[in-house]
Amino acid sequence: MCGASGAAFGVAILKKLIQKDSISQIALMISATGKRCLHDEVDLGPEDLVALSPKVSLRSDQNVGADIASGSYRQDGMIIAPCSAGALGRIAWGVSNNLISRAADVCLKERKPLVICLRETPLNRVHLENMLRLHDAGAILMPLMPGFYSKPKDFEDLFDTFALRVLDQLGYSDHDPRRWQG
Ligand SMILES: Cc1cc2nc3c(=O)[nH]c(=O)nc-3n(C[C@H](O)[C@H](O)[C@H](O)COP(=O)(O)O)c2cc1C
Repeated sequence: MCGASGAAFGVAILKKLIQKDSISQIALMISATGKRCLHDEVDLGPEDLVALSPKVSLRSDQNVGADIASGSYRQDGMIIAPCSAGALGRIAWGVSNNLISRAADVCLKERKPLVICLRETPLNRVHLENMLRLHDAGAILMPLMPGFYSKPKDFEDLFDTFALRVLDQLGYSDHDPRRWQG
């Protein structure tokens, strides 16, 4: 989770990952500004997210020597939600100076799914070019743009429906009545 608005989306995605029986471990990274947004927007701290499940363990964004900084670490992929324009730029240009950007770099080089949920608007040319650059490098660009065709009954439903679509990208698909039925 980076320092962009939309912490609630990140929390919804984390909760959905926790529910998946096939997932045994979730390495959670929250940047310094990400912690601030998490607190300001949803009144939560990293410890609250770790407390959700024993599957969740925290990695310091400053620790570029953590397990997930290595391509030898076995993993299914990485979701950055919310992703700041700053993190987008760092990853697009290979500036692996913190764990989030290094772990993302590892996903790209190891050909593991990297889902980037950018939150910024409006988008300038740098953002657009960086998105295209990352798309071409294999990342999945999934800006925080939820669909409304499922008629979400509240914000939680909206966040959860978006989380469903994010998990689809990593192959963790569920039957869900909120999918478009035609
Ligand atoms: C309260 C707050 C909200 C922010 N919201 C956004 C945002 O929605 N999108 C964005 O790209 N940057 C946003 N920023 C700016 C980033 O947090 C800033 O560029 C930061 O350096 C990103 O670092 P990080 O990627 O390590 O979290 C916000 C900053 C603050 C303090």
